[in-house]
Amino acid sequence: MKLIEVADYTDMSRQAARMIIEQVKEKPTAVLGLATGSTVLGVYRELAADHRQHGTSYRLVRTVNLDEYVGLGPDHPNSYRHYMNHHLFAQLDIPLHETHVPDGLAADLDEECRCYEQLIDALGGIDLQLLGIGRNGHIGFNEPGTPFSSTTHVVELAASTREANARFFPSLDDVPHYAITMGIATILRSRRIVLLASGEEKAAALARLFEGIVSPELPASALHLHPDVTIIADQKALSLIPKEQRQVDVP
Ligand code: GLP
Repeated sequence: MKLIEVADYTDMSRQAARMIIEQVKEKPTAVLGLATGSTVLGVYRELAADHRQHGTSYRLVRTVNLDEYVGLGPDHPNSYRHYMNHHLFAQLDIPLHETHVPDGLAADLDEECRCYEQLIDALGGIDLQLLGIGRNGHIGFNEPGTPFSSTTHVVELAASTREANARFFPSLDDVPHYAITMGIATILRSRRIVLLASGEEKAAALARLFEGIVSPELPASALHLHPDVTIIADQKALSLIPKEQRQVDVP
């Protein structure tokens, strides 16, 4: 793992956007694995600004998102499909049919999960997967205890995750209980992974990640098993890790 220490959220967003832009320039048909949440919003703003100002094209890019709430469709303001269309896809020249988010309204959710895995393979695999991290160390919606061998599956959300995400919903009761998420094995099949962390609410999860223990109890620790992971973290997210311990090689 490689760590890029940055000052703050703005710096993190710029660095991550730069990596994505470089990826797209190097391989215009790149498959980007995308995430939702507050952490990546700044990255999407940077990508949109760069597209407007410098014309970086996404015409041939394909995208796959990590996860989606079960029961929320594209028109629901809190669905991840809605978020992606609004915050990113509508701001770029990417054809919408080349963007993929699991279907939270699928009649057969297990079949949807199988199809999502096949889709990723049919696209040739993910070139660069963008990740945030949950306060409990989850990646995608892979909650603590998820086997590292997991592929795309339906998950019951941890109470802490529903509470953390309730800020986007009218009330906690409106937060879905289930989601579809790429599994840990799906994420690890990506050729390159970039994990972002900003703010002190992520400091505890990041400190555990830097301890180097590899365990399903900390889903993000599976990233220690991947050969090409870059963590971009700001000073608040790193605040519980002494400077001399800020290196995260495979234990
Ligand atoms: C959410 C998402 C994750 C995201 C994480 C952090 O529950 N499913 O993909 O990375 O939690 O979210 P945020 O960036 O809003 O802190």
